[in-house]
Parts: sequence; structure tokens; C-alpha cells
Amino acid sequence: MNVTVRGRTRQYRTVAFDPTRNAVRLIEQRLLPHEFKIVATKNFRETAGAIHDMVVRGAGAIGATAAYGLAQGALAFRGHDLRKFHRHIEAVYRILKAARPTAVDPVNAMNGVRAAMRAGETVEEQQRLALAAAGEFAGEDVAHCEAIGRHGAKLIRHGAKILTHCNAGWLAFVDVGTATAPMYAAQAQGKKFHVFCDETRPRSQGATLTAWELAQQKIPHQIIADNAAGHLMQRGEIDLVIVGSDRTLGRTGEVANKIGTYTKAVLAKRHGIPFYVAIPLSTIDWQLKSGFGIPIEERHESEVLGAWGVISNPQSAIRNPQLGRRTYVRVANPTSGARNPGFDVTPPELITGIITPVGIFTPRALWRQRQRLGYVD
Ligand code: MRU
Repeated sequence: MNVTVRGRTRQYRTVAFDPTRNAVRLIEQRLLPHEFKIVATKNFRETAGAIHDMVVRGAGAIGATAAYGLAQGALAFRGHDLRKFHRHIEAVYRILKAARPTAVDPVNAMNGVRAAMRAGETVEEQQRLALAAAGEFAGEDVAHCEAIGRHGAKLIRHGAKILTHCNAGWLAFVDVGTATAPMYAAQAQGKKFHVFCDETRPRSQGATLTAWELAQQKIPHQIIADNAAGHLMQRGEIDLVIVGSDRTLGRTGEVANKIGTYTKAVLAKRHGIPFYVAIPLSTIDWQLKSGFGIPIEERHESEVLGAWGVISNPQSAIRNPQLGRRTYVRVANPTSGARNPGFDVTPPELITGIITPVGIFTPRALWRQRQRLGYVD
């Protein structure tokens, strides 16, 4: 997507690979919206660290990062012994997989890379195939998001008021995004609409990332506190909800997404508001038979007990040398602890439809449509 920083507009992808340096290039998302910076990870351990520390986040984006990280690890191997090479690849795979547990995209992406590598007969051939397959995953991620946009745009009528949660925008993928794809496609069709971005505590991806993306794209929007959606729904101020997902179960239609999604789905049902989930095929988990089996990431309590931001006080006449510096402030009572599950699971009966690259389906129809949705036995 286009990014305008200090009056200059350039096209960026969230995740890219630099073959000359064997480095993964990432937008440093922890600094947004206050600073736009590209960072490069020099080896697969740094790449896993960038996923773990949320330099890069969002299901598709960490999928592509893991795929490139696996290729990066493969390319760093020196020698011709295939058995040693495969042991090395297994270790790289395990480290990248452990970086974050809930999204299934990294696992699906890396499984695709490993499968492609099998066609090679030498270490060199497998290294080359690994990088090609990682690039293919990244390209497919973009193509899937564009197709989601084509299918989903018809859900957005002129004048619509849309709620979204967290960031399932282009920063959460290689480009375009999932929940935002129908919005970008509808905008291109000339439709006017308004988006409410849930703030999405504790890390505020809605207030920081989605709001920044929509501002870059010149889509009218407002940030709302996570608790405000029920009130707006009751007053008829929201007519459509579109969210993303980190893992959607193909067998049951259950949807894991950022904590707070389930609450919004319950509210939408109560008020008869359509609730859609937009996903590329890499977000589908065909193995798990119950949402209770989804590993839910438990994150550090400091995220709930405080917040990150930049020091800003434009009204102040006093020159503050800290102005613009990113900092953490403690909000909560100093002696209290916190619980911080990162994701929740929404059951299929609360979901109107799943917007996929091949069409829109009810959650329970995913299994019936599995051949079209890329299921391999
Ligand atoms: O913890 P994050 O920021 O990596 O969470 C992922 C998300 O951004 C959301 O859950 C999103 O809605 C789905 S990812 C496309």
C-alpha cells in the first residue's frame, strides 16, 4: 500500500526479503503511528525474535515472516550433507513456530515451504526452492487479500457504518489486509462509508495501526473505546462488523481472533447486525476439532497494567526534551496483578459469514466447501 511520510508517498509491503543480505525486511510496527521505520533481521533467530516481540504481527504477516525466516535459515546452512541440513531445518522450524502460538498461518506457511523443498535433490536446490516457496506464500497472501476485497465489497453499501476490531489491515498481512480489503475495494468503487476502529486494548492495535492505515488511505474513521460498541449498536450507529482471524477451524467454523472479538459478536447478534470474518486460506486449521484446542497466547501482565505511547503535550509552553519519545506508563494500581489472554474464540452461530478468497460462506459450510478452500487430505 502507499505510505505517505513527511509529504513523500512510496509503496511498501509489510514483509519483504533482501536476497543480497539474506535478511527479512519488516515495518517496525511497535513504533507506529508515531514513527515509520523499516528494520532488517540478519538471521532466523532475529526473525523469530521479531515475531515474538511483535515488531511484525498479524496472522498473514507473521506467516510470511516465518516462511522467509525458514528460507533464511536454510540459506545460512553451509555444507552438502542433506541429513545435517534437514536436522538444521527442523530446528529452525521449531524456533520460528514457537515465536507465537495462536495464529496458524506461520505453521501453514512453513509447511508449504518444507513441502516445496522436498523436490530438490541437493542442499543447494532445496535452499533455492525454500526461498522461491516463501516468495510464493507472500505473493499468494496478497492475491488472497485482493480476492477477499472483490467478494466483500458488495457487503458495504453507500453510507454504511462499519465496526472493526484490532488490525486485520495491510499491516497484518503482506499487503491489502483482510477485514480492510472490502473497505479498500468499496472505496475504489466510489462508495462513501465510515469506520469505527475498536481501540483494542491492551496493545491498542485498532487505535494505533488500523487508524493509521485508514488515515493513510483517506477513509473516514473514528477510534472508539472497546466498551463503546454496544452503545453505538443500540443507537443504530453500526450496521456491519468485519474482523479478521488468527485461526479459523475448517471443521467447526469457530474463529480465534484478538481478545474482545467474541464480545463484539455477542453484541452484534443481540442487535441483529451482520458479523463477518475475513480470512485468507492460510488461516484455516483443518486439523483441530474444537475451539478449546486452540492455543491461546497468554501475554505479559504489563500490557494490561499500563500503556505505551509518546510523550506529547503540544499545549505546554515549556520545552520538554522528552517530547515525542516512546514510553511506557503505569496506569493500574501499583500492587495489583493482571491476566492477559491475547485471543478469544467466537462460535459459528454468532458469525453471519466468512469472507474467503473464493467466496463468502457460512462458518459451518467451510467443511462442505473444503476442496475449494484448499484442504488436502
Ligand atoms: O496480536 P496480534 O496483533 O498479532 O493479533 C493479530 C491480530 O491482529 C488480530 O487478531 C487480527 O484481527 C487478525 S490477524 C489478521
